[in-house]
Amino acid sequence: MLSPVFADLARHRVVPVVTARTAEEGLRIADALAEGGLPVAEITFRTAAAADAIAAVAREGGVLVGAGTVLRADQVDEAVDAGARFVVSPGTSAEVIERCRHHGIPVLPGAVTATEVQTALALGVGAVKFFPAATSGGIPALRALGAPFSGLGFVPTGGIDEATAPEYLAVPSVLAVGGSWMLPADAIDAGDWDRITDLTRRAVTRTRSPED
Ligand code: 3PG
Repeated sequence: MLSPVFADLARHRVVPVVTARTAEEGLRIADALAEGGLPVAEITFRTAAAADAIAAVAREGGVLVGAGTVLRADQVDEAVDAGARFVVSPGTSAEVIERCRHHGIPVLPGAVTATEVQTALALGVGAVKFFPAATSGGIPALRALGAPFSGLGFVPTGGIDEATAPEYLAVPSVLAVGGSWMLPADAIDAGDWDRITDLTRRAVTRTRSPED
């Protein structure tokens, strides 16, 4: 059974990967994504502002906010304290997964090989981040892994763009795709939130489920 948060990610189909230098920047990005029809943000622990940005977005409400690039148990604690609803890690770390279970927060650990997937499964996860997707065999690798691990959800991320996102989403084991293609660094630097909203709208249109 998919956790309700993962069911929401699957409904939105795209998980924007956000790196915010300040809480205010995180908030503006999240607002621009929501305005474009994608109220989801994985805010990465790649800056010192990550927890503050998650807290600001969580406080404002309306956006499903998670923590990304979570490498250690203490970052899980910080993410949960800040109000993150899900945790994403680039690799499969028992420390991170166990701490997420302790808090009862859904986790997407990174896995691209059969051994990594089995390790994640043994730790009780129901979905993994297939990262870095494009350089780890892309769609053929995902299809091949889907056969032995039926029932496991994959969220491919890394090197995906608006052209390839629908192709990844056509793979039955794919829950959602992650990426930052709708968040170009120059648009963020310029505070061009309208451009981000436009790119998000395009991402939503192009990845719309055939049933919608
Ligand atoms: C991540 O950590 O998920 C990636 O940086 C996102 O990948 P992308 O920037 O290639 O979309």
